Amino acid sequence: MDKFLVINGPNLNLLGSREPDIYGKYSLLEIEDLTNKRLENAGHKVDVEWFQSNGEKEIIEKIQAASNASYKAVIINPAAFSHTSIAILDALRVLSCPVVEVHLSNTNQREEFRSNKITAKSSTAVIEGLKEKGYFLAILSQLI
Ligand code: DQA
Repeated sequence: MDKFLVINGPNLNLLGSREPDIYGKYSLLEIEDLTNKRLENAGHKVDVEWFQSNGEKEIIEKIQAASNASYKAVIINPAAFSHTSIAILDALRVLSCPVVEVHLSNTNQREEFRSNKITAKSSTAVIEGLKEKGYFLAILSQLI
């Protein structure tokens, strides 16, 4: 069975109550459930591991551990670290599997500082602005 790792960065544990007009109404747990159901309904049997941390160190350690595991792809929403973290960019560079970066909001339509996505420089693809659907589409993109 294909294995995927989905990494979520800081403040994404607050989804559902955090600025729902920007990020959508679903909690991270609900997004996990929805994504798994949508994949199943689309006929895909996959093993998806979900990880969230507010800490840069923990995210880097998870990415480093992923390079020794056999994931078909790593999906990452680095959240605010996307705009600041060269350390996460460097960690992602070590991965040999595809990396799909997801943002719930369309960062290009927001504050100027969100347009600069440092981590996207090491991503195979970026999906943004589709709220929770981005996670499903990121995984699906690696199955078709
Ligand atoms: C985000 C966009 C980032 O700019 C922001 O800091 C986040 C969430 C998104 O999913 O739209 O925390 O990554």
